[in-house]
Amino acid sequence: MADYRLTLIPGDGIGPEVTEATQRVIAAAGVSIDWEEVYAGQTALDKGFDVPLPEVVLESIRKNRVGLKGPCGTPIGKGFTSVNVRLRQALDLYACVRPTRSFLGVRSRAARPFEGVDLVIVRENTEGLYSGIEHQVVDGVIETLKIVTERASRRIVKHAFEYCRSEGRRRVTAIHKQRVMKLSDGLFLRVAREVAEEYPFIAYDEMSIDNMAMKIALDPTAFDVLVMENLFGDVVSDMCAGMVGGLGLVPGANIGDRYAVFEAVHGSAPDIAGKGIANPTALILSACLMLKHIGERRAAWRIEMATRKVIEAGDRVTGDLGGSATTREMTEAIIVAMEGLPK
Ligand code: NAI
Repeated sequence: MADYRLTLIPGDGIGPEVTEATQRVIAAAGVSIDWEEVYAGQTALDKGFDVPLPEVVLESIRKNRVGLKGPCGTPIGKGFTSVNVRLRQALDLYACVRPTRSFLGVRSRAARPFEGVDLVIVRENTEGLYSGIEHQVVDGVIETLKIVTERASRRIVKHAFEYCRSEGRRRVTAIHKQRVMKLSDGLFLRVAREVAEEYPFIAYDEMSIDNMAMKIALDPTAFDVLVMENLFGDVVSDMCAGMVGGLGLVPGANIGDRYAVFEAVHGSAPDIAGKGIANPTALILSACLMLKHIGERRAAWRIEMATRKVIEAGDRVTGDLGGSATTREMTEAIIVAMEGLPK
């Protein structure tokens, strides 16, 4: 009998390739999981469901409480709301947590990654400009509403401070554009200051998004925990992923009071899907966040250490990291590296 029953959404594109790799690594770490596999995204439509986020997916997560998710695409122009936005809203997964740390030995194709980065983006996941409220005012004029509520602002900032406390971090920075969005970002900042007063032992500061973009490009090592609204968080997460070596590396967690779904920052990568060359690291590290969440800290540590060792060695890594290994070869190297670590 397995130790846990959890939901697995393989997702689209490279999703099934990286979820299979992740399942293998978790099993090799000695955590036995009975995966309840459900389908979302284009895969759900291909399997005959009439919507990309079938109710069965939500039911499975409500039952199991925790899920691991591959990336899902949403067909454009067919009137479907984004699978990811809808999933986060339906399960009230309000905190998107994305720890971004440098890796030793990364040789990114595009640029030389920064060393010493160790920051965490805490992104509000349920409102802001991604509330999905848009309409045409008159021909040629579209209005998209940014919703900011006191309730959602308070709980996301509290989540950032609680995360900071439990992970032994030192500073929370609230990111905003209050000078332009005086009311909405003004409300967010007012609430952030109130929450900060409850945590006098954690440093708190504020930075406008444009100023942050400039400062982080100069020195990302100067940042710790960054809390921000949905759209800012989406953009900043990808930017920070690029700073440590690319989207193939950075994990994520979507957390609510009742449920949690773990997924990489990256999408379904249609350009490399089916070729067996996707980097499995981001989903493997997302699974480490999941294992910590369910109390399997030791297994999470061993998997992360083994993954970092393989990346540092550099000879069994995928193309995005400058190597020529397949997803399977890199996964096998991680499993072998884990065998050399204390149990
Ligand atoms: P993407 O993240 O899928 O790809 C961007 C670039 O990064 C591509 O060149 C891709 O090959 C590369 N890349 C991404 N992950 C990689 C990995 N693990 N290993 C090696 N290279 C990797 O972003 P894009 O192209 O904007 O989106 C493609 C689809 O994914 C869209 O349908 C989008 O809606 C969906 N998406 C889903 C997300 C989710 O389920 N959480 C998040 C982001 C996008």
